[in-house]
Amino acid sequence: MKEIKLEETMINPFALIGKDWLVLTAGDEKGYNGMTVSWGHLGCLWSPNRPTAVAYVRESRYTKKFIDENDLFTLSLISDKKALGYLGSHSGRDEDKFANAGVKPLFVDGTTAVEGAKLVLVCRKLYAAPLSEEGFVDKSILEKDYGSGNMHTMYVGEIIKVLAE
Ligand SMILES: Cc1cc2nc3c(=O)[nH]c(=O)nc-3n(C[C@H](O)[C@H](O)[C@H](O)COP(=O)(O)O)c2cc1C
Repeated sequence: MKEIKLEETMINPFALIGKDWLVLTAGDEKGYNGMTVSWGHLGCLWSPNRPTAVAYVRESRYTKKFIDENDLFTLSLISDKKALGYLGSHSGRDEDKFANAGVKPLFVDGTTAVEGAKLVLVCRKLYAAPLSEEGFVDKSILEKDYGSGNMHTMYVGEIIKVLAE
């Protein structure tokens, strides 16, 4: 993979995150885990207009431990929907998920992404906080998406490197 400038990408965040899905991975050679995500944002935040990616991770996800314990996380765009389905329905707590999904880790800059990804965003954590019930203006979302708790933590990461195939 080669490093490219963010401006060189033709990213449509709605397609990239919501439709194509991404693998959110954190950790390193000593231990890592990844999961499929389809909720998130890309944009600019905080001085000096930092390029950022926002991910939402529920408390129950094993991947959360690796995001919390590390400064970096990655978002990988892979085309294998079967692997994405696997990574989004099995927990790394129980198995070697990457191996069983048929994907390999790509160790980069002290963090982990997915080998063969078409695009990798390497992100440095800037902000992490659980969503609060009080924050919901539209309370119907609480009932629909958090009926059994398991709140998301919001992670804002500065995109510090973009790798493309
Ligand atoms: C298409 C798709 C999108 C998903 N998006 C998210 C998400 O944005 N946030 C989240 O917490 N879980 C999301 N999940 C669920 C996790 O990927 C899933 O629970 C996974 O098994 C967690 O793995 P882990 O326990 O190894 O971290 C999604 C699952 C799928 C299939």
